[in-house]
Amino acid sequence: MKKSVRPIFSVVFLAAAAATLCFKIMVSGGGGGLEFGYRSNVLAGRNPSPVFNDTILRFAAVDLGEDSLRQNVEQLVDGDFRSLATGRHRSFLWSGRNRIDIRARSARGVPVQLRSPEFYRLWLNFRRFLQNWWRNHRFQPDVMSDLVNVIKVLKPGLNDTVSKYKTCAVVGNSGILLKTNLGGLIDSHEFVIRLNNARTRGFEPSVGSKTSLSFVNSNILHLCSRREACFCHPYGERVPIMMYMCQMIHFLDYVVCNSSHKAPLLVSDPRFDVLCARIVKYYSVSRFVKQTGKPLDAWAGSHDGTSFHYSSGMQAVMLALGVCDKVSIFGFGKSDSAKHHYHTNQKGELHLHDYEAEYDLYRDLVARPEAVPFVSDKFNFPPVVIHR
Ligand SMILES: *[C@@H]1O[C@H](CO)[C@@H](O)[C@H](O)[C@H]1NC(C)=O
Ligand SMILES: *[C@@H]1O[C@H](CO)[C@@H](O)[C@H](O)[C@H]1NC(C)=O
Ligand SMILES: *[C@@H]1O[C@H](CO)[C@@H](O)[C@H](O)[C@H]1NC(C)=O
Repeated sequence: MKKSVRPIFSVVFLAAAAATLCFKIMVSGGGGGLEFGYRSNVLAGRNPSPVFNDTILRFAAVDLGEDSLRQNVEQLVDGDFRSLATGRHRSFLWSGRNRIDIRARSARGVPVQLRSPEFYRLWLNFRRFLQNWWRNHRFQPDVMSDLVNVIKVLKPGLNDTVSKYKTCAVVGNSGILLKTNLGGLIDSHEFVIRLNNARTRGFEPSVGSKTSLSFVNSNILHLCSRREACFCHPYGERVPIMMYMCQMIHFLDYVVCNSSHKAPLLVSDPRFDVLCARIVKYYSVSRFVKQTGKPLDAWAGSHDGTSFHYSSGMQAVMLALGVCDKVSIFGFGKSDSAKHHYHTNQKGELHLHDYEAEYDLYRDLVARPEAVPFVSDKFNFPPVVIHR
């Protein structure tokens, strides 16, 4: 059973805290036993380090959905798909060839029958991936420095001398882009990251057309997996895709779709997911406390505590920090006169994200990256510019 870790997996694990949050059930946060390996408040040499608030650090380090995530992983590893048959998970049942037929379970509620030898092979793969992911789902302040390994996957044929991309553009999907003419500038970057398959066709003057990496959440892949050959390539089938896992069952979509992809299909490093989750929670809680004057415990109630999650854009920006010498951010931010997304008519923001908190983070990335909590001292933040 023991497998060597596939390189793609170890490298690519990008986004998982999401998982945590996709399913959280309210669990009151217990403290205790937290490891704080990140930047200490005493720094030699560099800019004087900002003083982090320890109470908020501790609070941000507790994942309210951890218990339910663990439970879910254990169930799936045991081949028990029953949790998928109820409530809001129903929509995540598969349709098509590799269907999991929940009704097939016996009256005693034993785990579902896996129907075919073909499915069984998928399932073994799924389980191996899931276990591997779960083992790595932990806090690791140095993970930012490991992100550069993603470049090796994206540029195969390189040997050990990996150099970062000179310039990167992370293109958010905010409607504010429509008022700009930044398409050409975006495309002039060496590496362009786009989010959640927002289309570019018809919007090129504002958003550009070049895409080097498509960064998505795993719900997007799940939708793609129902299509012929998992079609998920609005930017062309040679464009690599990276996603964070927001539901553990999406590993099934992953193992199914992986083989049909000509370009790498990557899963974000779960250690990176955990880091992103903590950072965004820290900003969200800090903002909440400052604005409302309420105690920390009130935060979860107003932020979908157990399903609170960072946005795809946030993690894409963090990824760019790890693989680029210079990072430019486009299409982040809102305005009363702009649509939420340039390419859809979605009205409002999702409550499970705290975009205001994420903007606070981006402002720190521009002006004082040392104020970003949880990241190891060893990591050097590249310069960041926000275009609006
Ligand atoms: C840290 O934050 C907590 C919660 O808002 C607050 O009660 C406490 O006074 C803060 N500590 C410092 C040193 O600012
Ligand atoms: C590997 O790196 C060395 C040193 O930069 C270079 O001389 C060599 O051509 C590289 N090999 C490949 C396959 O890129
Ligand atoms: C996904 O595809 C790549 C390239 O074909 C392969 O190296 C990798 O092992 C695959 N992963 C899984 C889980 O099948």
